[in-house]
Amino acid sequence: MILVTGATGLVGSHLLVKLLQENEEVKALFRSEKQIEKVKNVFAFHHQTALFDKVNWVKGDITDIPSLEIAFENVTHVYHCAALISFNPNDEEKLRKSNIEGTANVVNCCIDFGVKKLCHVSSIAALGDTKEHEIIITEETEWNPEKLHGDYAITKFGAEMEVWRGFQEGLEVVIVNPGVIFGYGFPKQGSDIIVQSVKKGLSFYTKGSIGIVAVEDVTNCMFQLMKSTISGERYILVGENVILKDFITYLATLLNIKPPTIYASKTMTSIAWRLDWLIAKITNRKRKLTRATAKASHSVHIYDTSKIVTALNYSFQKKETYLTKII
Ligand SMILES: NC(=O)c1ccc[n+]([C@@H]2O[C@H](COP(=O)([O-])OP(=O)(O)OC[C@H]3O[C@@H](n4cnc5c(N)ncnc54)[C@H](OP(=O)(O)O)[C@@H]3O)[C@@H](O)[C@H]2O)c1
Repeated sequence: MILVTGATGLVGSHLLVKLLQENEEVKALFRSEKQIEKVKNVFAFHHQTALFDKVNWVKGDITDIPSLEIAFENVTHVYHCAALISFNPNDEEKLRKSNIEGTANVVNCCIDFGVKKLCHVSSIAALGDTKEHEIIITEETEWNPEKLHGDYAITKFGAEMEVWRGFQEGLEVVIVNPGVIFGYGFPKQGSDIIVQSVKKGLSFYTKGSIGIVAVEDVTNCMFQLMKSTISGERYILVGENVILKDFITYLATLLNIKPPTIYASKTMTSIAWRLDWLIAKITNRKRKLTRATAKASHSVHIYDTSKIVTALNYSFQKKETYLTKII
């Protein structure tokens, strides 16, 4: 029996479809019934509505050990997709609790219940930092604690440390580090925030780059890695490395909207994040831009995917194939 944490999220819900299509028996961890409706829509999107009733839903929270212990009964394989994604500095404590402590609990339960293999969903945010004049990031690039990292990145890195501890204690593990994931069914969160801001007529662009990937590629790779004999490895999952300006222009063209024309320089974004901080303080609203996200919007990196391509002989979809279906 497989357990999927974060089953009501983007990755978890598309993974449920994949696992059930492969005739696996699946338990899905959820916190609120309301979120399950979104998962039903994902099954409908994949024309797999009939499979939805095969999901064994189990209520639990990764920060609540007794609920996890119930969920882990008879489980042999775990896909750990649950995490808090937030770039709001006020969420630091919540991020630590869900992402580091929650992952530690999942790893401990895997060990206690004799789970055969764990697939942990990390992020490109948890990869290392390039040295000056380097732009290629691989699975081996070293994390430099002296560089500026947002709280989300720090907690995803901390979560990986918990998974590596589990590996040292004898648990078979595989980690995936996806780029920004695009997929159907979760409006106004994650990658859809980029799409929504382009829809609203974004005027500014920066010259940084991002790694993007289709959710189906993420779930396919996770499934194949779990089926393989591979253990103790991490894999970057990025379909394409894109320059932000080009990508935003591509999205604007798809949406039939005027692309942004004003270059937001490093000086402009450094003023913008400070202004955002001030306005958030005065009006008590969520931060939209932080120092770390402003800096990231100017960084140019190429995520090297040769490790996964070689391991699974995998070809990623191009954005033209999947974005037109979900935007
Ligand atoms: N989306 C991206 O672009 C992206 C990119 C790289 C890596 N990732 C990683 O991929 C994984 C999945 O992300 P996603 O996009 O699917 O995120 P998502 O759509 O926000 O879903 C997060 C899932 O985690 C669950 N969750 C959060 N805290 C929990 C807790 N304390 N106990 C139990 N469940 C909890 C949520 O449950 P509720 O529905 O109840 O809130 C939801 O099911 C995460 O590890 C994320 O860091 C995502």
